[in-house]
Amino acid sequence: MDVGIAESVAHAASIAADLIQRAGRAKPEVVLGLATGSSPVGIYDELGRRVSDGRISLAAASAFMLDEYVGLPREHPQAYRSVIDEIFTRKVDIDPTRVHGPDGTARDVGAACADYERSIRAAGGIDIQILGIGTDGHIAFNEPGSSLASRTRIKTLTRETRVDNSRFFDGDLDAVPSHCLTQGVGTILEAREIILIAAGNAKAEAIRQAVEGPVSARWPATALQLHPEVTVLLDPAAASRLDLADYYREVWASKPAWQRR
Ligand code: F6R
Repeated sequence: MDVGIAESVAHAASIAADLIQRAGRAKPEVVLGLATGSSPVGIYDELGRRVSDGRISLAAASAFMLDEYVGLPREHPQAYRSVIDEIFTRKVDIDPTRVHGPDGTARDVGAACADYERSIRAAGGIDIQILGIGTDGHIAFNEPGSSLASRTRIKTLTRETRVDNSRFFDGDLDAVPSHCLTQGVGTILEAREIILIAAGNAKAEAIRQAVEGPVSARWPATALQLHPEVTVLLDPAAASRLDLADYYREVWASKPAWQRR
């Protein structure tokens, strides 16, 4: 696991965009995995700027969202499909028909989840997965107690996650759906490369557990320790509880060119 403690969240987003740009140059048909929420917004803004000035093109890329609320119509402004259109798709030059998400309105949820897994496989798998992290240690919406081998399925959101996300619903906790469809931890671990971005004090404990805690379903993000190509990009507040922060800074600063991804 590479831990990059950036000067700011904007700096972390720019490092993430560098990694995506490099992958996109090596493989124009790169398959991206997209997180929704506030954490990746700076990455998507930076990718938008780089598309505008010609440094990168995502015209041949495709993308798969991590998760979707159950029961919100596609056009609901907080349906993750609408959010991703707003924060990512319309900012870059990707073909919108190649941006996929789980169908949170499906009548047959099991079939929709199995279809989603099939479509990820048919695209050749995810090359770079972008992740945020919940204050309770979730990745995608794999809440504490999730199987570390899980696949795309329906999950119940914790009260903590619903409270956290009520800021997107005018503070109305009752308006936050209680269920979601989410890629499983096992699905996420199949991505070839993973970038996790986190900022702020509220994420510091989840990050401490994810990076330095024992691997456990209690903190699902700890499963990332089992993946060989993970970059965790943090602002100083999110890194504030890491025991080995000074070591991570030293490693990052002295990384030889051959080791930089
Ligand atoms: C969203 C997702 C979630 C978020 C997490 C953090 O697609 O997968 O795991 O990344 O809830 O949300 P923010 O970034 O809003 O703090």
